[in-house]
Amino acid sequence: MSDEKARPGIEALLEETRQFPPPADFVAKAAVSNTSLYEQAENDPEAYWAAWARKLDWILDFETVLEGEAPDFTWFADGKLNAYVNCLDRHVEAGLGDKVALHFEGEPGDRRTLTYADLLREVCRAANGLRSLGVTKGDRVAVYLPMVPELAITLLACARIGAIHSVVFGGFSADSLRDRINDSGCKVLITADAGWRRGKPVPLKATSDEAVAATPTIEKMVVLERAGVRHEMVEGRDIHWSDLIDGQPDECQPEWMDAEDVLFILYTSGTTGKPKGIVHTTGGYLTGVSATTRLVFDLKDDDVFWCTADIGWITGHSYIVYGPMSQGATQVMYEGAPDWPDCTRFWNLIEQYGVTIFYTAPTAIRAFMKWGDDFPASADLSSLRLLGTVGEPINPEAWTWYHERIGGGRCPIVDTWWQTETGHIMISPLPGVTTLRPGSATHPLPGISVELRTEEGEVIDEGGGYLALNRPWPGMLRGIWGDPDRFVRQYWSFWDDKVYFTGDGAKRDGEGYIVILGRVDDVISVSGHRIGTMEVESAIVEHPAVAEAAVVGRKDDITGEAICAFLILRDGFDHSPELRAEVQDFVGRKIGRFARPKDVLLTADLPKTRSGKIMRRLLRDIAEGRALGDVTTLADPGVVQSLKDRYQAEG
Ligand code: WTA
Repeated sequence: MSDEKARPGIEALLEETRQFPPPADFVAKAAVSNTSLYEQAENDPEAYWAAWARKLDWILDFETVLEGEAPDFTWFADGKLNAYVNCLDRHVEAGLGDKVALHFEGEPGDRRTLTYADLLREVCRAANGLRSLGVTKGDRVAVYLPMVPELAITLLACARIGAIHSVVFGGFSADSLRDRINDSGCKVLITADAGWRRGKPVPLKATSDEAVAATPTIEKMVVLERAGVRHEMVEGRDIHWSDLIDGQPDECQPEWMDAEDVLFILYTSGTTGKPKGIVHTTGGYLTGVSATTRLVFDLKDDDVFWCTADIGWITGHSYIVYGPMSQGATQVMYEGAPDWPDCTRFWNLIEQYGVTIFYTAPTAIRAFMKWGDDFPASADLSSLRLLGTVGEPINPEAWTWYHERIGGGRCPIVDTWWQTETGHIMISPLPGVTTLRPGSATHPLPGISVELRTEEGEVIDEGGGYLALNRPWPGMLRGIWGDPDRFVRQYWSFWDDKVYFTGDGAKRDGEGYIVILGRVDDVISVSGHRIGTMEVESAIVEHPAVAEAAVVGRKDDITGEAICAFLILRDGFDHSPELRAEVQDFVGRKIGRFARPKDVLLTADLPKTRSGKIMRRLLRDIAEGRALGDVTTLADPGVVQSLKDRYQAEG
């Protein structure tokens, strides 16, 4: 953590006083409609979670629940189960084989319906295919696919045979893919020729080829033919998906896993240049995602659930694949952009498939607002009964629009706070119980305990502070792949008493309502995607023209935050608009398009403390056009004023 820790970022927000109690007809049918679950969980959190765990199918029942000490906790450690079997076999055995698991729609309009029996068959064939490539329990499999059913199928196929999947979002660059493959030593990469985005194929095979040129551990590459894009196949290394599963039997013996065997790794940005491979295990994670799917989304057997996240992020892992599928839900899965071919796409999908529960990101909601009310008004959204948001704070204005224009004023909104690291939702309303306040994720879920703390570790009952999780929970991360020291340093060492630090600031009012204020570390959230400032800085300084770079997040109306980069050029390079665009593209190629800086300011100097640290807080003030903050510790106060003048002039 840098000088930012002391940043007075725990700002007071607009006072929001409106309240929305759960509508009576919602309460009447809700799975949970009173607060007794909170009390029950509070009296005995372990018994509470054990009861949820026992709703899953275990091949060997557990006797122990929570064991260990911070940060090395285990859950249900002596039990054995298979995540996949819990997502598929048990539903088919219960007679739900004909129930639709996925209504898939590709961006070009192609459709596929997969029942639970279809999925079971497809996944068994894929799992057998992976086994035929020599993949066995504990092997790491990198997955770099568009949002098509094969992405979910691949995850479940890995789970069936005990392989550890590491999904890399399809928007990441070759370098990012390469680094993630190398960090966890993946043996196989599963990719596609391309995926569709805004009418164009986004190449994945070509990027994969570039990445695996420097990944010594990759033995095989599986290529799904999705978009009909020409691609090269490397003899002996590459195999098409269709050939992999061709002739494979429909049945596949599952690998029985210890509850604490690793289910997956998912990389997320942190405060250093290197992404962290967050490790999740099987029994606790599945318990957490299945419980929260039932409680937070009030999921019923006839619901049609649509989570718009990409499976490349944790939201898709937990609330497309493992949560809803473990609960036998019917889901909508859509490949492409919300504004393709026009801005009615999402609303048409809701109407067509009769979506009842819709879960999306505030960034998307703000974009819908900007596009205008006519688009949602043109579709019949009356099937909706519950809305959700995730990934970033939602401003009350966007909340209100979502409530009225999408939810018709009748649907509760669950504003769900959680992280890649927490595995499942931690702070959220229960829609049949909680009185909502726009902008507040409300209260911790039953069994979850949070604290707001000062930097010194003093607990704050009311007001702003650092958000801490002071009681273990089943889906908690078990580590950072290959880096136990960083795990302790990053999450468990902020205070002396080994309590988990989230990296977020929050405030709580007298009635216990929590408002998340955002990251207090050097992580920027662009459209809810976490990007480390250091990661962007190290990408930029690789550009031959750049001597030094400092990157900050500034507020943005649509994406929540936007990346703003301040650069010092090497001698011999001139400031020019072309160079600026080049640096933007360069970062896009190094990390991924979503990490391109929105603003690039070329400067002669950067404000630094006397000890040489870049004063990001001042840069943020400049980027947001605020009055200058405290410059007394600045080595050269003049730098700031000239930077500010430049920024405003170049706008
Ligand atoms: C932010 C996404 C406000 C927060 C599931 C957190 C939120 C980070 C909310 C995790 C919310 C997530 N309100 N902020 N409802 N949900 N965040 O790992 O800063 O991609 O620490 O997981 O997103 O992002 P991640």
